[in-house]
Amino acid sequence: MDIFHKTEALLKEIGEAVIPSSEVLELFRIRFLGTKNVLKDVFAEMKNIPSDRKKEFGQLINSVKLAAEERYASEKDKFESTVSSSTEQLDLTLPGDVITVGARHPIQLVRNRIIEIFKRLGFAVEENREIEDDWHNFTALNMPEDHPARDMQDTFFVNFNPDIVLRTHTSSVQVRVMENQKPPIRILSPGRVYRNETISARSHCFFHQIEGLYIDEKVSFADLLQTLDFFAKEFFGKDIKIKVRPSYFPFTEPSAEVDVTCFICAGKGCNVCKYSGWVEILGCGMVDPKVLENCNIDSKKYSGFAFGMGVERITMLKYQIKDIRLLSENDTRFLEQFKSAM
Ligand code: DAH
Repeated sequence: MDIFHKTEALLKEIGEAVIPSSEVLELFRIRFLGTKNVLKDVFAEMKNIPSDRKKEFGQLINSVKLAAEERYASEKDKFESTVSSSTEQLDLTLPGDVITVGARHPIQLVRNRIIEIFKRLGFAVEENREIEDDWHNFTALNMPEDHPARDMQDTFFVNFNPDIVLRTHTSSVQVRVMENQKPPIRILSPGRVYRNETISARSHCFFHQIEGLYIDEKVSFADLLQTLDFFAKEFFGKDIKIKVRPSYFPFTEPSAEVDVTCFICAGKGCNVCKYSGWVEILGCGMVDPKVLENCNIDSKKYSGFAFGMGVERITMLKYQIKDIRLLSENDTRFLEQFKSAM
């Protein structure tokens, strides 16, 4: 069949094509009007056509193109009008689309709840930088260079600069606040902290802490205990008791660690509290006078207490989460479980 016949056959095909649906119409469009349509191949034959027939061939191709355009336009109209005029296709009994509602992240839930409780005691929220200098993260907190306590917190340095660190604890905010505010100071500082630790089910290289600080005249250790006892009962339940164990932090003297009655077994002993009846929730103490002086607060006139807790730790205890990594993986199957929490 010579190229003239072939082209005429296309014209016939356009006229006789059966187009029962918009999907078939789309195939028609691709074949005759798409970017790689058949007419392009036909047109490529032009160079082989004797010059006295070139004009005739050109007109033939044109008529094929026009026919395709016309057929396409009229079929398209047909389908469009069928869709809009037919109400039978609309099934009103079909269930609607499910709109999923997000849930707050468990870390956020616990953080908000803790803030809420301390706000009632007059604590204001203070947030500050995550990239800190050595002074605010260590030195002002009584951890001068070569202090062994620095080793307790494996530090990430920024650009290998020994003076710039990703803060290893929120205690750095204590320093920033004391440098900039006059007592009485009563702040709570939630935020993310970083430590160069191997990631496992129990530890991560970043997590969240909440720091508390109260500075005024005549603040005593009894005030600290009263505050933490109130917090424990509000957060974990009214039957919860606190137990205070002596401990060591460079920035507090005396220092303590606080346990609460295991709220899973009510102190009877279970695998969460490792059969001791108690779970540790925070570190605390009376702010060391040296730290007050470092921040230009008169340690003869003022005293204060501080505490710091790990939000992941408390969240894991509260919801019995066995792997800390779940808290930063954003698996919606895990997160959806907290929709109705707290
Ligand atoms: N900064 C301590 C840590 O990260 C926690 C801490 C302990 C904070 C005692 C305090 C405190 O304010 O008084 O391990």
